[in-house]
Amino acid sequence: MSDAKLNQTYDSEEFRRQGHELIDILADYLGKATSRSEMPVLRNIEPDDLVREFAFDSPENKDLPLSGYVRKVIESMNHMHHPRFVGHQNTPPLTAGIIAQMCTTLLNNGVAVYEMGPAAMAAERNVVRYITRLTGFGSEADGIFTHGGSAGNLTGLLAARQAMSEYNIWEEGVRHDRPVGIIISDQSHYSVSRNAKVIGLGAGSIIRIPYDSRYAMQTKLLKETKQKAEDKGIRVICVAANACSTATGTYDNLEEIAAFCRDNKLWFHVDGAHGLGVLFSERYRHLVRGIEYADSVVLDFHKMLLTPGLNTMVLFRDGKRSYETFAQKAGYLFDKQDENEWFNGAKRTLECTKSALGIVAWAVIKYYGDEVLGRYIDSRYDLALWFAEAIRSESEMELAVTPESNIVCFRYAPAGISREKLNDLNRRMRKEIVKSGEFYLVQTELDGTIWLRTALMNAMTDENDLRQLITAIKRHGAKFENQ
Ligand SMILES: Cc1ncc(COP(=O)(O)O)c(C=O)c1O
Repeated sequence: MSDAKLNQTYDSEEFRRQGHELIDILADYLGKATSRSEMPVLRNIEPDDLVREFAFDSPENKDLPLSGYVRKVIESMNHMHHPRFVGHQNTPPLTAGIIAQMCTTLLNNGVAVYEMGPAAMAAERNVVRYITRLTGFGSEADGIFTHGGSAGNLTGLLAARQAMSEYNIWEEGVRHDRPVGIIISDQSHYSVSRNAKVIGLGAGSIIRIPYDSRYAMQTKLLKETKQKAEDKGIRVICVAANACSTATGTYDNLEEIAAFCRDNKLWFHVDGAHGLGVLFSERYRHLVRGIEYADSVVLDFHKMLLTPGLNTMVLFRDGKRSYETFAQKAGYLFDKQDENEWFNGAKRTLECTKSALGIVAWAVIKYYGDEVLGRYIDSRYDLALWFAEAIRSESEMELAVTPESNIVCFRYAPAGISREKLNDLNRRMRKEIVKSGEFYLVQTELDGTIWLRTALMNAMTDENDLRQLITAIKRHGAKFENQ
């Protein structure tokens, strides 16, 4: 017996009506957000007040139609499409990626096994090949998609642990009488050290290398760092490099790290979640010279390759390493005969139900390709350099470091004010600017100094927006300075 009420919720004509209405609302929003209209980048509202606005039993929500709900959601979100959104590394996604993701959302396949969504694995396979070509890996390379760079780093480190251990660590677990260690940059994304802990290596096995004045790993310290760890009984198995780092967007010297790993038979992992998009840029590709020697590489499509999130690829120079990593039996999912078949992705990732991420990445590569993605990277990296020069020319402002990507760290720093006071001033000023809705930017701390931080993700942010940002900072800064 069918349930008429339940079936009605799948009514295709009702969905068509709702869908058309939704596209109209979203298209209007897109036009407004991108046009530098008066809309604030972020609405200023206290968390508890917003919880009340979303209460199921509030009078305003009693007869709220779905379209009203969508408008309500939009109103109280941070607007990535606003050219004055210059905050976190979230991106206004390209429309073909959005459409592709809408399609996969309705289909809703969990594509970890081929039979659940064949097109997803076929698309994924082709995207893997596309990126493999750009990295310069050979035909043995293989990759897998994960939900986000943190999960990607975990997948890479698990592969390193499995490939480089002297015993079957997957089956036996970590043996504390034979600790293994991973060398990371002191500027690594927190997911790298967190994941090293997740895989049971413990805090003592995370060996940090200090950074230089660019905030890049001091590669000249690799040899003595490894030796010191070994003197403590830790067997170093891997070096994890940044391409680029999160805080300042700095690229580690991949060629030097690769050479060290080669000479010392270590696994070379590159966290390219943010900065590996330069593979699409003729002008900035040189920043990842040496990537071709990496054993595992993480690339977030949802950062500099403009897909909706989450959408990450982990690529292995030697693809069979990714099969060894999860050499586990799950009888209900796989037939034993199928071992090492690329199309059953669950064998190579920690996730079971998995979205059809390859379909979204495929759409962005197909409909925009090297040209648009390359131009996007070039224009954002160029704009960061322009912004850095503009900051340098301001006597009350200071630049943390010359940007190497689209991330710029700077602060309001008139002469004669103590570091503590400047830290406090920049913190308060950032809050004030965000509250005003004029811009959205973030902050970071480097060696005890608070810096304002912009990630220039939005393709529509231009020099004039950044001039206005400098003006706003000077205006708010002067106000706080005199308080
Ligand atoms: C360098 C780097 N690696 C990893 C991550 C984590 O990626 P995700 O947020 O996709 O988990 C980030 C996020 O900002 C990052 O900047």
